[in-house]
Amino acid sequence: MTAGFPPPGDEHWAATEAELLDLAQRARESAYAPYSRFRVGAAVMSADGRVFTGANVENAAYAATICAERVAIVAAVAAGALDLIALAVVCDGETPCTPCGTCRQVAFEFAPSLRVLAGGADGSVARYILAVDLLPDGFGASRLTP
Ligand code: THU
Repeated sequence: MTAGFPPPGDEHWAATEAELLDLAQRARESAYAPYSRFRVGAAVMSADGRVFTGANVENAAYAATICAERVAIVAAVAAGALDLIALAVVCDGETPCTPCGTCRQVAFEFAPSLRVLAGGADGSVARYILAVDLLPDGFGASRLTP
């Protein structure tokens, strides 16, 4: 789905998309994935134009593994960039891979309207809006009772 994305022909956004995907691709090279051998890279952009990247970092205690998307998101938040607008993710798979459930939830905390770009090694790009396509009816702070 492309709901909420600028219409095709918006050259500025097209360039930004390509750049974000490229940064995610490069970040993927820093993945520490000796167990799965599945490398993932991510790049998240905040409203002020800052970009933070991440790669998956695995652990011999498998459950301690952290995904590329969360590495990028926590780096952004720790730097004070909470207004996240777009996230690109690139993995080793042929076709685009979308963020796992935990990463969707973490992203939802900061940016329900986040634009998510998933790039595959085959060059294809899938575009989503987080709360519309990837985590509809998600759980957020507004659901907590006072
Ligand atoms: N992985 C990510 O980095 N992001 C995702 O959205 C899905 C999975 C990583 C975790 C693990 O290191 C490897 O991919 C295999 O699951």
